[in-house]
Order: sequence, then C-alpha cells, then structure tokens
Amino acid sequence: MKIFSGMRPTGKLHLGHLLGALSNWTDLQNKNHECYFCVADLHALTSDFSHTEHLRSNIHDMVVDWLAAGLDPEKCHIFVQSHVKEQSELFLLLGMITPMGWLERNPTYKELRNETTEKDLSNLGFFSYPVMQAADILIVKAEGVPVGQDQVPHLEITREIVRRFNYLYGKTFPEPKALLTAFPKIMGTDGRKMSKSYNNSILLSDSDKDVQKKIQGMVTDPKRARRQDPGDPDTCNLFPLHQIFSSNETIKDVRNGCTTAVIGCVDCKKILLPNLEKTLAPIREKRIQITNDPAFIQDVLDQGAKQTREQSQSTLEDVRKAMHL
Ligand code: TRP
Ligand code: SF4
Repeated sequence: MKIFSGMRPTGKLHLGHLLGALSNWTDLQNKNHECYFCVADLHALTSDFSHTEHLRSNIHDMVVDWLAAGLDPEKCHIFVQSHVKEQSELFLLLGMITPMGWLERNPTYKELRNETTEKDLSNLGFFSYPVMQAADILIVKAEGVPVGQDQVPHLEITREIVRRFNYLYGKTFPEPKALLTAFPKIMGTDGRKMSKSYNNSILLSDSDKDVQKKIQGMVTDPKRARRQDPGDPDTCNLFPLHQIFSSNETIKDVRNGCTTAVIGCVDCKKILLPNLEKTLAPIREKRIQITNDPAFIQDVLDQGAKQTREQSQSTLEDVRKAMHL
C-alpha cells in the first residue's frame, strides 16, 4: 500500500508522538509499504506565519526525533513539504473544486477558530488547511493515511475532494483511508493531556536523569494522599504508561499492589522506570549517532524531496491532462 502521513514541525517530540504516530509509522515502513512522511512546514505557517524564526530549528529537531525513533530513510521517504513545489500546485488546483461550505463545516476549523485567542486565524491559509492536506496525500496518490482520531474530519474532506475530482475529470485518484491506531491516552506529568505547550511532556530527547525526575514528580491518583490509602489505577496518570511499557505480569502486580496499598506510588514509579528506559535508551543512542553526522539530516531531506518530487511530477501530469490544462 502507498502510505502518506505528516506532522507540523513543532520541534522536539514527546512520548505521545512516539506512541500515537511514530511507532505506527515505523511499523508500516518495516512492513515494506511505500511510505512518505512529510514535515508539514506549510501547514505550520497557516497558524504561525508571524513566528517563522524557529521554523528551521523545529524542522531539524523533529527530523532528528523521527530518525532516532526508527524511521529509516532506506525504507521510507522523509521530506519537507515546501521542498516539493508540485504539492503547492495541486493545492491550487484542488482549491477550484472545493466548496467553501465543506471547509466552513469542518469541526477542527470551527473549534480552533472559536478557542484560539492568542493567534489570528482569520487568514485564507488556515481556512484552506484541509485542502493543503488533501494535496499532500494526493500528490503521491496515497491509499493509506496513519493518523489520530483528530485528523479524521480532514481525511473525510480529502475523500470528498477525490470523489468530486474523479467525477468531474475522470478517475485520477484513489480514495485514501485513515489507518487509526488505538492506544491508551498518554497524560502529561501534571495529569493534563501531554502537550508541549503545557510543559508537562516526557521528551524523546530527555536524558535518563530528566526522565527519572519527571516520572518521580508525576501526579498520580489523588485518592492516595497517604501511603496507606488504596488507589485506583484506572484514574491514575501513571498507570497507562505501565500498560504500554510493562509486562502483563507487572501490570497485574501493580494493579493489585495499588488497590490494596501494598505498594506506594514511589515504588510503582521505580518499577516503571527501567521498563520505560527499554524504549527510550535505544532512541537516545541513535540520536547520538545522528547528531554526530551533521550532513546526514540534510542528505536525508534532499533525497526524500527528490524521490517525492518524481512521484509528484507524474501525478501532476495526470491531473493537468485530466483538467485539460
Ligand atoms: N494536519 C496534520 C496534523 O496536524 C499534519 C499533516 C499535514 C498531515 N499533512 C498531512 C497528516 C497529510 C496526514 C496526512 O497533525
Ligand atoms: Fe498510580 Fe501506581 Fe500510585 Fe497506583 S501505585 S496510584 S498506579 S502510581
């Protein structure tokens, strides 16, 4: 299957990105699907156009995390969106056939417009975000798009655009499917959703000492105010991490120990740490390798753009022919 996914370059990534997206991406890459992974810098501009000074370092930091987490440029195409200009031309053409009502009704758009106060989102670029995303996916004629639940409305617009294009100009694009993964929700150290803006994240680039400190300081079940109070793992922020990183046996023991107050939260965290490190330590090691070779990242992105461009030019030829341009 041809796979496409992307992330806006927000800089250093956290555990939520690893579990929600990256591990899924590396799986697909290792199953020999033809994978395109896009650093969506133009999408970042739709809302952060007035703060572009961090864009380059954010792209760099994110790509280091991608590679450290296991994306392999020998097995997938890693590229920066703005390096493949064919995508922008397709975006323009798809804009012609996209009714504004589809975008006005997009729940993500409505929600962000209503909730965001610190940024001005009344620009055309932000309004047309889903069309740009459709152009990403369609420029390589992708069939599968691994994304989180929050992206489903966007993908639905892509599918509608495909149906409309194929109806107007003849069958050109496949209808891409969302590839959703279910995983326990990862909470930040303060009990809110893990997010960079809350400063509650465990970063893939954190040292083992940082991780230790963050886990030790993590908010747990508030019912366990005292050591002898029994807790409820299902309302604890830490427990989902056990569910992901610990063995079934440990998960059972922790659950029993917590609900009977046989173990305390301090013990519970001590049990978790080495299990979490089994995943984080190799990522850290890989990062050292990558950052020791400064030309490597540039090379990966140049190669990725070149490969994506080839595919994109051929798609654009089909599109222009279909539209009689
Ligand atoms: N909109 C996605 C996000 O905010 C990022 C993205 C851009 C994307 N282009 C894409 C995801 C194409 C899937 C396919 O996370
Ligand atoms: Fe959470 Fe573990 Fe404490 Fe129970 S013992 S409340 S699961 S940290």
